[in-house]
Amino acid sequence: MNTYILGIESSCDDTSAAVLQGTKVLSNVIANQQVHEKYGGVVPELASRAHQQNIIPVIEAALKEANIEKKQVNAVAFTRGPGLLGSLLVGTSFAKAFALSMNIPLVEVDHMQAHILAHFITENDQSKTPDFPFLCLTVSGGHTQIVKVNDYFNMEIIGKTIDDAAGEAFDKAAKIMGLPYPGGPLIDKLAKEGNPQAFSFSEPRIQELDYSFSGLKTSILYFLRDQLRIDSDFITKNKADLCASIQHTIVDILMKKLKLASIQTGIKQVAIAGGVSANSGLHSAMQDAEKELGWTIFIPKISYSTDNAAMIAVAGYYKFLNKEFAAQSLTPYARQSSKKSS
Ligand code: KG4
Ligand code: ZN
Repeated sequence: MNTYILGIESSCDDTSAAVLQGTKVLSNVIANQQVHEKYGGVVPELASRAHQQNIIPVIEAALKEANIEKKQVNAVAFTRGPGLLGSLLVGTSFAKAFALSMNIPLVEVDHMQAHILAHFITENDQSKTPDFPFLCLTVSGGHTQIVKVNDYFNMEIIGKTIDDAAGEAFDKAAKIMGLPYPGGPLIDKLAKEGNPQAFSFSEPRIQELDYSFSGLKTSILYFLRDQLRIDSDFITKNKADLCASIQHTIVDILMKKLKLASIQTGIKQVAIAGGVSANSGLHSAMQDAEKELGWTIFIPKISYSTDNAAMIAVAGYYKFLNKEFAAQSLTPYARQSSKKSS
């Protein structure tokens, strides 16, 4: 049987809808919200309003691109959390209404699990997927976690950040340098022209597999404050070197703990997921680890690294196979730890 899953993602500032046939992507439409740029970060109230405007056209575009009719959809999967509550409510309400009107099952998906399950999206029959168990470094704007993935929905968080997320570290560093939001992709681009050894920033000393990024932000802030006193053009003159050095430091912090996790668990299949997994410096570090440590690495395509609905649909597909359906009465959750059963 052909199973068509409609996936909906609205947890932050991108409205996305995708149609999958099993694990195969037929469409993956993303509407970015430009409205936040001038505020230097996502404004939750504006994000919810933009989702309201975008959701119908985005769903229509996804169905059209997949070349299927509404009535062919077998189930609708949506992001229940974590994320901005007002934004999640838009996707949740739309998914509920769609499921009710089409009389099809509703499937709730956890955004962070979906980032990991993006590795099971197939685009052609050659797609390489990880075997269980594998390790996944999940790095986004709100989370930084090392996850031991035992099965599709059996995941153990074995390390996490105690303060800022890696994406936040990129975005805050960019903000300090006067670069627009979101800073991660821009730092990545500018870093390509710079020297990663030009400047060094302090790395945290945190127990075991946990992370901390708030000290790095302070270290960058004080370093630039001191340099700007001597030369007010310091940032302009050294932009590429600063970006390369900051990226190098963040990637180094991420990789040290990931390598430790591999040693502790004995697992050598290692994946990365989430927005920061689009970072080219992190890609290179993973490729080095593959050569030097004998890892088998899994790096998602950039369109499946950052927020997208294809990952929601693939997670929804596996739940659909298990007949794990959601009730119409469920509500979204803002934080992963606050998930309530419905
Ligand atoms: O997963 P995501 O799209 O949204 C959340 O769930 O948070 O991640 C967004 C984060 C932002 O902090 C953004 O700056 C970062 O991912 N990001 C990057 C890159 N592309 C996106 N960070 C570094 N390098 C990139 N190429
Ligand atoms: Zn995300």
